[in-house]
Formats: sequence, C-alpha cells, structure tokens
Amino acid sequence: MLFIACIITLQLGAKSVVMASDLKPVNLRTEYKVNPVTDVGKPRLSWELTSLVRGQTQSAYQLLVASSPEQLVADKADLWNSNKVAGNATNQVEYAGKPLAARAICYWKVRSWDKNGEPGPWSAIAKWEMGLLTKSDWKAEWIGNDLTALGKGKTYHLPPAPFFRKETQLKGLIKRARLYVTSLGLYEFQINGKRVGKDYFTPGWTDYNKRVYYQTYDVTANLKTGKNALGAILSDGWYAGYLGYALLVGNPVVRNFYGSVPLLKAQLEVDYTNGEKEIITTDQSWKTNHGPILEADILNGETHNANLDFDNWSIVGYDDSKWKKSGTYPDKAERKIEVYPGNPIQVFQELKAKTVTPKSGGKYLFDLGQNFAGVVRLKVKGNKGDTIRLKFGEVLFPNGELMTENLRKARATDTYILKGSKDGETWTPKFTYHGFQYVEVAGFRTPPRLDAITGIVLTSATPSTGSFSTDNLLINKLYQNIVWTQRSNYFDVPTDCPQRDERLGWTGDAQAYVQSAAFNTDISAFYTKWLVDLNDAQRADHSYPIYAPAPNVRKTDTYSPGWSEAGIICPYTIYKTYGDTRVIREFWPNMVAYLKFMEAKSKGDYVYKEGSFEEISPKGGFGDWLSVGKKTPPDMLATMYYGYVASMMAEMAKAIGKQDESAYYTTIFTKIKQAFLAHYTDETGKFKTNSAAYGNGDGYVDGDMGFAGHTQTAYANAIYMHMLKPDLTQKAGNWLVELIKANNNKLSTGFLGVKPLLPALSSTGHSDEAYNLLLSTDYPSWGFEVVNGANTIWERWNSYIKGKGFENNAGMNSFNHYAFGSVNEWLFEYAAGIQVGEAGYRTFTIKPEIARLGIKQVKATYHSINGMITTAWKKDGSSIQVQVTVPINTIATVFIPTINPTTVLEAGKAVKTNSAITVKAYKDGYLPVEIGSGVYQFTSQN
Ligand code: BGC
Repeated sequence: MLFIACIITLQLGAKSVVMASDLKPVNLRTEYKVNPVTDVGKPRLSWELTSLVRGQTQSAYQLLVASSPEQLVADKADLWNSNKVAGNATNQVEYAGKPLAARAICYWKVRSWDKNGEPGPWSAIAKWEMGLLTKSDWKAEWIGNDLTALGKGKTYHLPPAPFFRKETQLKGLIKRARLYVTSLGLYEFQINGKRVGKDYFTPGWTDYNKRVYYQTYDVTANLKTGKNALGAILSDGWYAGYLGYALLVGNPVVRNFYGSVPLLKAQLEVDYTNGEKEIITTDQSWKTNHGPILEADILNGETHNANLDFDNWSIVGYDDSKWKKSGTYPDKAERKIEVYPGNPIQVFQELKAKTVTPKSGGKYLFDLGQNFAGVVRLKVKGNKGDTIRLKFGEVLFPNGELMTENLRKARATDTYILKGSKDGETWTPKFTYHGFQYVEVAGFRTPPRLDAITGIVLTSATPSTGSFSTDNLLINKLYQNIVWTQRSNYFDVPTDCPQRDERLGWTGDAQAYVQSAAFNTDISAFYTKWLVDLNDAQRADHSYPIYAPAPNVRKTDTYSPGWSEAGIICPYTIYKTYGDTRVIREFWPNMVAYLKFMEAKSKGDYVYKEGSFEEISPKGGFGDWLSVGKKTPPDMLATMYYGYVASMMAEMAKAIGKQDESAYYTTIFTKIKQAFLAHYTDETGKFKTNSAAYGNGDGYVDGDMGFAGHTQTAYANAIYMHMLKPDLTQKAGNWLVELIKANNNKLSTGFLGVKPLLPALSSTGHSDEAYNLLLSTDYPSWGFEVVNGANTIWERWNSYIKGKGFENNAGMNSFNHYAFGSVNEWLFEYAAGIQVGEAGYRTFTIKPEIARLGIKQVKATYHSINGMITTAWKKDGSSIQVQVTVPINTIATVFIPTINPTTVLEAGKAVKTNSAITVKAYKDGYLPVEIGSGVYQFTSQN
C-alpha cells in the first residue's frame, strides 16, 4: 500500500508546530464565490482538500470566523467558532455564528482532521462581506432623465443614453469606500474619469417589478481626499429596451416592458480614518444631460457621435452648468433590492481579426475566426463627421456576402461618427451585444488594417470546470463548439441564442442543456440567480413559463410541457451537482404547486392522453422541437416528463428530510408509469399513439408530418427517465436501435429527444450505436455541422450545407444554439464515464464506454465541488489503460473494461493485492473497483 507518513513541521514565526496530517483546506468559497459580497444571512461555506495520502478523508473540521484577520492569525474568532465538528462536510456548511450586520466583513479559515483523527494545518484566510441588507440601508433615490420623446425612427424607437454626474468633497483621509450601485436599465459607473469594475450589462436581468440586483465595488483606491467626480451612463437595457421577438410577431408592446425611463440608484459610502463616515447618494442634485450615445439597445445596437462627446465629464472641474437637475422617481414598495447572486458578464477574451476583405460599395468584411457573443473595438482614423457603420453576421452566403436575414428584427447595427482626431480614435459600444463572427464595415476612408476591428468576447464569468478531448479531431471540434455555444449563451440568463431578436431564457433549452453546462463550467452561482428569475416568473396557474425572465413578448405565450419542467429539472441538477439543498427548500412550495398543476391537468388519470394540451399555443406545446420525420406526440412526452419530475421531487423531498412527501411523489411516479404503460404501449410494450386524435395536426408544431408513438425520441426519453421496468427498458433499447437502423443509421431527434438519445443507447448496452451516431457526418448529425464548417452548435441539424446554402434563415436559423449540444452530457457521463452518485460528487462512478471504432482514447477532467476528478482511457492493441484521479474525501467506483478480470492491474500490480482497492463482482464486461482519493493507473486486457 502506498502510504506517505506525514509529519509536517510548519514554521510559524518563532514557534514551530508539529502537524500530524498534511490534510489542508484550499479554494475557500462563500456562496460559491471567492471572497464575495453577499446578503445571505447564513452564507454557505465550502472548501476543497489537498493531501498526498491516498484514500484520505476528512473526519472533522473546525471553522473560525472573525471580524479581523489578526484575530484569525491568533486562532481567535469573535463571530463564530464552530469548534470541532465531526463529519466529512466540506461544502454547503452554513455559517452559524453571531448575526451579521450590513457591511460587516467576515474573515474565515478552516482546518480538517484526517481519516486517522489527526488535524491538518489551517487554511489560508478567506473573507466575505455583507452588503446592504434592508431597504432602509439605502439612502439613495432613483434618479433619471426622461428622454423617451427623443427616440426617432419608425421601426426602432431608440432614445439617447442619459449621463449623470456629481462632484463631492471628501473631507478626511479615506480608510475604506464602497460603491453600492444599481439601475433599472443598464449602467456604467465612473469615478474620477475611470470606469468602475469589470462587469458589463449590470445590474443584470430580473423581473424588475419584483426585484433588482445591485453591485458592490471596493472603490477605496478610486477616491482621494478633496474633490471627486462621480458619473454614470444609463441605457434602456432589458428594462425599457426591445425584448425578444415582440416586434417580429406584432405584439402590442415591443419595448418598455418594465418601465420607460432608465433609472439609477447609487450610494457611495466612505469611512474615514478618523472613524467618521460619509454617504453620497443619488438625488436630484446630480446633473444630467444626453450627448454622444444617440442610441443604445441590446438587440438593435448602439450609435455614438464622437462630436458630441463630453470630454472629461466624469472628472473634477468639468463645466456642467448647461446640464440640468436629475428627476427623482418613486420606488416600488414591493420591489426587492438585493446583492447580485450570479456571475457578472465580463470580457472573456479578445479576438484578432483573421482577414479583411474589400466588398462592393467601399465596404470591408472582417472575419474574427469564431462565432461568439460580444462586441468589437473599432480603431479608425478619418475626418470629422465620417460615419462608420458596423453590421454583424454569423455566417456568409456561399458567394461570400454577409448573411443577416437570420437576425430577423434585431437591427444589430452599431454606428460611430468620427470627430476627426489626428491620432485616430477607438470606440467600443457599452450597452449592446451581438452574436457574430463577421463584421461588415462601411465608411472607412482608406483600406483598414486588420487591427481596425477586434472582437471582444463577453460572457457570464462562470469559472471553467471541465475539459474533454479524444484522439478524434471531429469530436474535439464538436466539444469546442459546445463550449463556445455555452459561452455565447450564458449571458446573465441562459439564452437560446445571442444574435437574433430573441435572446430569451428559454426554459426548454435551459433544462435540456443544464447538465451539459455543469460539466463545462461552474454554474452554481449562475443558476442561483436564474432559478430566482424562473420562480419569479411562475405563472398564476403555477405552471412555469416558456422563458424567464420576461413578461410575454407574444400575447399567446404561456407554458409548454418539456419547457416548464425546467422549474424542477434545473434545481434538481443544481442539487445533484453541488449538494445544494437550500435551492430545494427555497423553491419547494413553488415546485409543489407546479406538480399540483400537472396533477390537475391529468384529471386524476396520471397520463396525458392525446390532445391534453389543446388550449395552449402552439397546441400541445413545442414538443420535440426541430425533430426530423414523424412527430412524437407532445402528450406522450408530457406524460414522461411528468413522471420524470415526480421522481425528482421524491429524491429532493428526501434530501430535505420530507420523508412523507418523498413517499407521496414516489407513489405518483408509480401511478404515472402504470398509466403511461396502459395508454401508450401495446401488449408487447411497443409504443403507440392514437394519431387520429390529432386530426390533420392543425395547430401543432409540424403537425402535418403526422404523429407516431414508436419513435427514437419516445424510447430515448422513456429509458432516460426510468419510465419502464427493466425488461421493457431493454426492449425499448432494442426498438431504439431498430428505429435508428431503419432510418439509415441516423438520428431523428429534436430538442427533447437529443439529450437522452445516446445515454439511452449506452444504458441499454448499445454504446456501439451511440458512437456510430456521434461519429456520423451525415445529415442529421453533430458531425454534419462540423464538416459543414460549424464552430458553434446550430439550431437546426441543417442550418447550412456547403454548396447548397441555408435553410430557413428568415424564420429561425441560429448558428449559436446549445440545445443539440446537450450531447455533452453523454460525452462526460458515458464516453469519459463520470457520473455523480451521492449529491455533490461525494461518491461517483467512472464507467467509460470504450469505442470500438473511430476513437482510441478519451480524456476528461471535471472540477467538482469536492475537487478535481479526471479520467483518461486509451486502447493499446488488446490492452486498455484507465487513469483516474479521485478527489480527497470522495469515493469512486471505477468500472474497468476487461474480458478477463484477472488481467486488471493498478500500477502494474494485481488489483486484488492492493488493500486500498475494494474489488467488486465482475459483470457485463467490467470489473468494478471502489477507491478513495488518489491517482490510479489501471490496465486490463479487453
Ligand atoms: C427558440 C428556442 C425555443 C423555441 C420554442 C425558439 O424560437 O429559439 O430555442 O425553445 O423557440 O420552441
């Protein structure tokens, strides 16, 4: 056995301490973030562990929380000393000390006892800061400048962006200063000529009638004793700007969904070294004007006339005598104002232009080499009044011209009017973003250089957690495309696409992709935010809507099976991934109400028979959106979804100690399965439907294609959602394979069928067929997109065909849509084999599905909340190597593929001889072994 006896001596100043264990907590986080500001009364703390010892676990921990770091250094804690707590918890540990006041800074450290009961060293010190906790902490007023009447243009009514400024005299030496700032609409804040913070699209999108978030910035270094200038620019943003396809569908409201005048609320709190405190707040004394930003709209673009620039407007001494006083606006009593819980949108990277090509009419086309969400920085030299017009597109027509039809009513055009500076000028818009790879620029006086346009990639800053690679370039490209698509669409809310007049938090897309997303990046904070949006948007009938946030952007938008279930599936996934039970508790009443809605909708039958959702639009809901061939009945899918979420409710109820409710939902699940079987299967278990009930399919999505129960999507979902008993599950797997064969070995699934397809194949022993589909480059397939030039995931299987062009541009043809990217789940869970066991990956399995052809090796890493998991398998002739890393304090069951269990070695020695490895019974071509933390190198004959 590999055991490193760890007696560690730490030099601590003069005294040296003998440490019995090397078990050390690292990566300390509060509410999923490193040293954040929070307004959660009992923030949850987490840490990971390092140790060189194999099979290491934590048997106890101790937390110290203090109001100064000095106390912690002396092992003192005036806020909370948890004392030694037995157990292996390393995350979701709630602060249980003294009540915390607004603005309090809490420093903390933690130490752990190892499996032998020996304590390890203390962690480094981390901290969190409390924000403003109640409305009464806010002294600032909402201020604004109503410019609505200045919006010109028939189709797009786009008023200019108001500027605000205020000079203030700070009378003492500054010890600490915080800016608390928010807006209805978007804001950019400046202090003494400098932009505050690195965040964009603040304060984020919420249902502004119910809540608005604020940001907190440490601005101690931005201020000086004496005079200081504060400034802010506002734009309509999601609050007052255009939303979704409202314009396209002729909705009576196309903008101003929450209000018509963007408003600012900011509070600068300065603590002086002499103990005094000063608060500078927004009020009517702030001066306001409008100038260079003539238009600023998320969907439609930004227009900047540099001749109207207010030079040095946020610097002390600027002459604002011509600016007027701000208006003040009443608060809405019911609107909460809270700390932004998500990951702010930030710059991810800059992209240099790859090529610039002259076009007719003096235009130039820049290629940034990658489809993404963001903006560009323009660098230009010209004459005063020259106008540069930038148009954005994701793809080119086969003739090389920019394709913009798929933007529909999103004008997505930025305009810059030069002031004619001798040294040239640079400009980046502040309040818009586009989904694009290509920029067509009009208005250059002389041929531009490549650096005239630089791409600025924007995304919610969810920390990277995963990687996936193989020896197959097609699959590697597919994976990169998935990651780019997530990056482009995790934009404050999980959007469907970043380019056209939509960009909504579509719930169906979100639920289909959430597990895939969780492998690529840490979505805990991002989803903590969006689940609030989703629950704020729960409808009066308790169904979850088809997108959140957003009031209806089309009058008839309501709910849809397959979309609404995001209200259960997403919190469940956050619970499973991070061990987060608070999310369950918080939304439990809402989730229960939704399940009641579903039950009432089934009229006590626990099955949705054909035509159960005729009253919604489209009839039956969106169903297996964008599938190929006959449609799977939406009611059949709705029944399976009902069963699926009931089973999740049972598991979540148990996780929060509601045993009775758990039993109740288990019973409901059983009833649904029975009723499903009775109604939707024949006596052999084959799926069927009464397609006559749909008539000619009028009003249903693709209803003219006809309906069938015996479809890939139906079996894939039934297997994935555990709707069938084991024997029927196996039969369903076989039918699934038959259907794929009958379809020339091609998939036919849409949004609801694609995610479960490969998992259903693999879990019924058909991984060869799963790999065949994955590696296919025929239409429809993931590979078809790649060989047709995709660098993101497309909305349609055939969004573009080389030599043929586009399908359906003007209707719906996004080139950056993650729903079909939900194959990522299979890549991590089956190709690499990482599957969560106990919530938060406290236990997990690694069961790689070895490809027969096309792929010889797969590597994946996943940084779980309990630490880094890695797995890599490689075929070498008849032998297989499987290397895995198991984080400290977790247990993995690794399934080693082999035809002969006696050939399984770890580090060259028979596994049976290794006491750190518990060998289980050989089954179905795998030898399962249970292991604790460490790096393991297995080999076997296959
Ligand atoms: C969106 C989708 C969405 C769908 C509803 C589309 O326009 O882009 O991704 O889920 O509508 O079916």
